[in-house]
Parts: sequence; C-alpha cells; structure tokens
Amino acid sequence: MTTVVVTGASAGVGRAVVRRFARPGIRLALIARGRERLERAAGEVRAAGAEALVLPVDVADAAAVDDAAARTEAAFGPIDVWINAAMVTVFAPVAEMTAGEYRRVTEVTYLGCVHGTLAALQRMKPRDRGTIVQVGSALAYRSIPLQSAYCAAKSAIVGFTDSLRCELIHDRSDVRLTVVHLPAVDTPQFDWARSKMPRRPQPLPPIFEPELIADAVHHAAWHPRREYWLGWSAAKAILAQKVAPGIADHLLAHRAWDGQMTDEPRNADRPDNLFEPVAGDQGARGRFADRASTTSPAIWSSEHRTLLLGLAGMVLAGTALAVFTARAASRRAIR
Ligand SMILES: NC(=O)c1ccc[n+]([C@@H]2O[C@H](COP(=O)([O-])OP(=O)(O)OC[C@H]3O[C@@H](n4cnc5c(N)ncnc54)[C@H](OP(=O)(O)O)[C@@H]3O)[C@@H](O)[C@H]2O)c1
Repeated sequence: MTTVVVTGASAGVGRAVVRRFARPGIRLALIARGRERLERAAGEVRAAGAEALVLPVDVADAAAVDDAAARTEAAFGPIDVWINAAMVTVFAPVAEMTAGEYRRVTEVTYLGCVHGTLAALQRMKPRDRGTIVQVGSALAYRSIPLQSAYCAAKSAIVGFTDSLRCELIHDRSDVRLTVVHLPAVDTPQFDWARSKMPRRPQPLPPIFEPELIADAVHHAAWHPRREYWLGWSAAKAILAQKVAPGIADHLLAHRAWDGQMTDEPRNADRPDNLFEPVAGDQGARGRFADRASTTSPAIWSSEHRTLLLGLAGMVLAGTALAVFTARAASRRAIR
C-alpha cells in the first residue's frame, strides 16, 4: 500500500491530483479547510477503490499540519508521497493591497508549503525514503502584475526548496524533492479568490485543464527530478526572465494586466476564500472549459524528457554512424 498526502485536495489542481492517484492500493490523506468538499473528494477516492482520510486543516497552522501528518500515519502507515498544492491569492495592484492580505497569502501559499514539507520531512528523513512534491508555478520565476503576494509566495517556495535540496544532497538522503511548475490552469481559483479588479479574473492564456496537470504531478511523484516546467508557456516565461527580464517587465505590464481579466464585470458581493473556505463543491475545473486544452505535446515532452533525450541521442548516434560508414565506403570505391 502507498500513502499519499495532498494539501489543497478539495478543489482545482489538488482535486484532480487526488482523482489521478485514486486507484486500488493507494491510501490518500486529503487536506483542505472545507469539510463538505473534502468529504465529496473522499467519496470519489473510495468509489475508485482507494482509501481516503479527510483532514479539515488550515495549512497556515503548522501544528495542525503536523497533527494531520501524525493522524495519517496512525491510520495508513508511513507517508510515501506528500504533495503541497494549497493556495490562496488576491488579484489587486500593490497599492490596493493591505498588509493583512500579504500576510495571509504568505501564510497559506508559502508557509503552508513549508509546514507541509516539515511535517513530511520529519517523518521521511529518519526512514530515508519518501517524496515531497511542490506544486509550483511559472510565476515563481516571472512575476506578473496584479498578483504580487502570490508571485512572491511561489518564488519563496523555490528559494526554500533549493536550500532543502542542497541539505538532502549534503546528507546523502534518499528523500526525494521535486517542483512542478505549472502554466495557467482552469480551476475554481478565479471565482473564489479575493479580487479588487473591475472585471472577473481569468488565468493568463494559454489555459490547460487540471486533469492534464494532474497526470504530470502524478508522473513527477514517481519520477522526481529537480524541476518540471509544464508547457511551452511556462518554459517561455521562465526563460524570458533569465535572458531579458527588463523586456519581460514591459511586455507583461501590458499583456498580463488585461490578460488576467475577462470582459465580464466583477460581482463585488461574491464571497472569497482568503480567510475562510467558500461553501459548495466546485470540483477540479473552473469555468474556462471552452478555452482550456486537455492535451499538450509540450507538457508530455516535459514529463518524458529523459526518454526524448535518449531517443535524440540514438538518432544522433545513428546518423553519425551512417555518415561514417558512407564515407568509408566511398573512400574504398575511389581506391
Ligand atoms: N490555476 C492556475 O492557473 C495555477 C497556475 C500555476 C500554479 N497553480 C498552483 O496549483 C495549486 C492549486 O491551485 P488551484 O488553481 O487549483 O487553486 P484553487 O482552485 O483555488 O484550489 C485551492 C485549494 O486549496 C485549498 N485551500 C485554500 N486555502 C487553504 C488553507 N488555508 N488551508 C488548506 N487548504 C486551503 C482549497 O480548499 P479550501 O478552500 O476548502 O481550504 C482548495 O482545495 C497551487 O499551488 C497553485 O499555486 C495554479
């Protein structure tokens, strides 16, 4: 039996990841705040033949996350995989943000990931086995306007994870660590995140469905490597930041402002999930199915990079051998 813990398990990417893992032989511990959504997710897990444990916990509370890990091991045995996917964000220009909003986004999106990692590490390290998966974002490397608190939190996850990776290497630990950087995904986030913008938020296109992302996170958990960059849009954003950050600032100042809003006016009365969970079961997908892709050769290539590099190496070696043989034959013919 394999024990997998998922934070942010009740909706969006986390919910899709839970569905992807839910197979006979898998025990899933589901962490989020809203009990109703968690119970629905657990029902799906059990229907798929796996076992489920519902853990209504706020990841900003380090002691509660550690307690959730202890309860998981008491019920299911040693944790094999821990996936940090919980998040909150606020859509607003910096000048309209409050200190309390920065603190809350940081406590959930960054520290929630740290708390999950600590709870997993303290159990995995003495056993010298287990895998921690950070659900990252291209925005960890390349910040965009209107999401400063979230971009900073995702960037902090990379800084934290890089330090930990060095320490695991130093200690010759067999605990594995991987970060899966996502492109824009069609999730409920855009209908329940706090927003001060005049129009309804949307993921910055191109948009992908969460099931495609869940496949990649599942793959990463079993084939952990330093980082996965999912899709050409994520790779382009990360590389643009490394090569020409000033040009990227100017491009994003325009494209990523209106690009994060639809034409629909915002509903100022809708509840948001910054401090408390919103009621209802929103599932994995958001409202962008008409524009979101369910397949991506670039995401597939990122998952199977080793296979592709191996094939490319074989093609190169084969071509070199063919050229060498042809030249040798022509030299023999001249003689
Ligand atoms: N969607 C995108 O475009 C996109 C792009 C790049 C990366 N990502 C990454 O993908 C992951 C999931 O994002 P998403 O779009 O799926 O978000 P989402 O649809 O808003 O779902 C967030 C999940 O986190 C849970 N959550 C929120 N606050 C929590 C807290 N304080 N404690 C515990 N659980 C909490 C929510 O359930 P409750 O409210 O019931 O707690 C829900 O299960 C995040 O790591 C995000 O950075 C998303």
